[in-house]
Amino acid sequence: MSTTLEGKVALVTGASSGIGRATALALSNAGARVAVGARRADRLKSLAEDAPGETLVLDLDVTDRQSVQDGVAATVERFGALDIVVNNAGVMLSGMILGADTTEWTRMVETNLLGSMYTVHAALPHLLRSKGAVVQISSTSGRTASAAGGVYAATKFGITAFSEALRQEVTERGVRVVVIEPGFVATELAGHITDPAIHAMAKNMAESMRTLQPEDIAGAVLYAVTQPGHVAVNEILVRPTDQTR
Ligand SMILES: NC(=O)c1ccc[n+]([C@@H]2O[C@H](COP(=O)([O-])OP(=O)(O)OC[C@H]3O[C@@H](n4cnc5c(N)ncnc54)[C@H](OP(=O)(O)O)[C@@H]3O)[C@@H](O)[C@H]2O)c1
Repeated sequence: MSTTLEGKVALVTGASSGIGRATALALSNAGARVAVGARRADRLKSLAEDAPGETLVLDLDVTDRQSVQDGVAATVERFGALDIVVNNAGVMLSGMILGADTTEWTRMVETNLLGSMYTVHAALPHLLRSKGAVVQISSTSGRTASAAGGVYAATKFGITAFSEALRQEVTERGVRVVVIEPGFVATELAGHITDPAIHAMAKNMAESMRTLQPEDIAGAVLYAVTQPGHVAVNEILVRPTDQTR
């Protein structure tokens, strides 16, 4: 365990699997006390057992503004401050626009976009106090949209827009805003796609390359949040070497 983040308090949303889990462990390994939030409590409990440092398990649904406010309040109550927020919770329900089940659109917008905005809203007063950092997990889909990924991409483009406005609002007050844009990472994300053809496409894509692992993105988060106070790493794009688009 390193002591780079000794004394710091982090909150990671969507920490029950994939990138969020790996990031929470990396932050804990670096010495931070970490609040881990998601809806699957059993997964969070096992994460807390694996983490070397102190953790706080939060029953968190980012689509519910009250749940987000309560999660942030519980973190600050338990650890006394909040230095790093990793806005990671997300869903990718890829599909064509024609004939789409629009409840999937609502879920993506409410989770990926509104959920991350609620988290920033609730955390910002504390981050201003600690001169902390917000890490927004966007995607390569936040830079380039493609067929079957329109709504997911719209949420990630939205995160980029919101993050730049946030950056301009708070950077002179010492809060750093980091947007991380992963390419294909081997996680559960594509497993929730309901369209069988698109689900199969995602599976084929994963099998066609050496995908990133969640730890690769956790490493990028750690890099950004361990810079000296005057260095703001605002954007990191990480693709698998084998990923062309
Ligand atoms: N995998 C990739 O290729 C890739 C590429 C670029 C960007 N990303 C982004 O990385 C982030 C993490 O995804 P992942 O790949 O690690 O997938 P994952 O393993 O499916 O993780 C998604 C996480 O989000 C949580 N979550 C979903 N809905 C939530 C809600 N309403 N409230 C709270 N937590 C919620 C899930 O926890 P519960 O279900 O327990 O609530 C889970 O912990 C997402 O924002 C995704 O868009 C992933």
